[in-house]
Amino acid sequence: MTERTIPEVQCDFSLKPFNSFGMDVKASAFTEITSEKQIPGLLRLINTFEKPSLILGGGSNLLFTRDFDGLVVHMATKGIEIVDEDDDFAYVRAMAGENWDDFVKYCISRNYGGLENLSLIPGNVGSAPIQNIGAYGAEIKDSFYMLDAVSVKTGEFREFYAADCQFGYRQSVFKGELRGQYIILSVTFKLSKRPVFNTTYGSVGDFLKERNMPVNLQNISFAISEIRRSKLPDPIELGNAGSFFKNPVVSKKQFRNLLGFYPDMPSYPSGEQVKVPAGWLIEKCGWKGFRDGDAGVHARQALVLVNYGNATGTQILNLAHRIMESVKQRFEIDIEPEVNII
Ligand code: FAD
Ligand code: EPU
Repeated sequence: MTERTIPEVQCDFSLKPFNSFGMDVKASAFTEITSEKQIPGLLRLINTFEKPSLILGGGSNLLFTRDFDGLVVHMATKGIEIVDEDDDFAYVRAMAGENWDDFVKYCISRNYGGLENLSLIPGNVGSAPIQNIGAYGAEIKDSFYMLDAVSVKTGEFREFYAADCQFGYRQSVFKGELRGQYIILSVTFKLSKRPVFNTTYGSVGDFLKERNMPVNLQNISFAISEIRRSKLPDPIELGNAGSFFKNPVVSKKQFRNLLGFYPDMPSYPSGEQVKVPAGWLIEKCGWKGFRDGDAGVHARQALVLVNYGNATGTQILNLAHRIMESVKQRFEIDIEPEVNII
């Protein structure tokens, strides 16, 4: 059978299984890309279709507030390849549609270090650079080598190296000035064959010590996966998109003032400024465990908004606005969504 190079389009397509909030919305058109050979046909489709398009990975960082009147492109290309290696490093490329955590497991099984602290983050490899995913003291920028992308408008293929990506906290050029302009096709990571372990964040070190587990890639991944499971809701059981808000950064002066009123306020250094956990701010405002209809704030992590079943995206967004306003009123701090609102 010959491979299709023109992607098949389905109309009036339910996106409910394609977003971790479980929003029951439809796309007027939907297509799935399983091979890079389909890219020229896809670009023709996008550029002749007189409606917007949206590139979709695992749908775990999106909030649909309405039906999507346009073309949703689900990236489902698969494949992992070691493209180069020397005594110290392996350069490993994964296609955009590979599941992130499966890829992390693949790297750990070969004893390649760098991604283990990012275990169990939902979503796909192709989306990971968009917000420079981070957890437990690591971000993908620390192990990122380059990515291959194609311009939606011109069809030009382009390589982006770390310096081109403008990685920051939950930020990159693809969420900033180049938003929506490129489709990420594959990502290559530079992984260490002599891993340096990082167990300093939160309770990772204690978790291993209490269980007498030696510090290695597998055990760090296990510890982080278990800690994550104890804090964060599983989207299969309770719709959510992880942290709904970013942790805000305030000046040292503002932080000192706040400490006068709230001496127990946790904080992390962030260059010349101070990062404050939004989960703490939201909890202090009384929102933790709050529920209005089917829209709610998770009982174990106030940074996570949840859909108990039939909440609409608008209901979740309205709740988010109420939370933002109350944090502003009480602390004079603006918090902003991390999730992509569609
Ligand atoms: P999607 O939600 O499908 O897409 C996200 C954005 O990327 C959209 O704007 C989309 O248009 C764009 N996009 C997707 N693929 C491509 C592509 N190939 N080319 C161009 N644009 C593309 N994030 C963290 O950083 N740290 C965490 O610890 C973390 N924990 C989470 C825990 C839970 C329970 C959940 C549900 C989410 C968590 N997240 C976390 C958020 C989420 O997992 C990440 O943002 C992830 O990278 C999203 O991947 P995705 O494939 O689901 O992206
Ligand atoms: N906290 C509270 N109440 C809460 C939640 C948190 O007081 O309801 C306090 C905790 O006690 C702790 C601090 O806030 O002192 C930080 O909490 P935690 O370690 O759970 O991390 P976080 O800042 O809430 C961030 C990321 C997560 C990531 C974890 C672990 C952001 C926006 N979120 O959460 O990322 O997994 O650290 O590194 O930076 C995501 O992006 O979707 C995500 C889940």
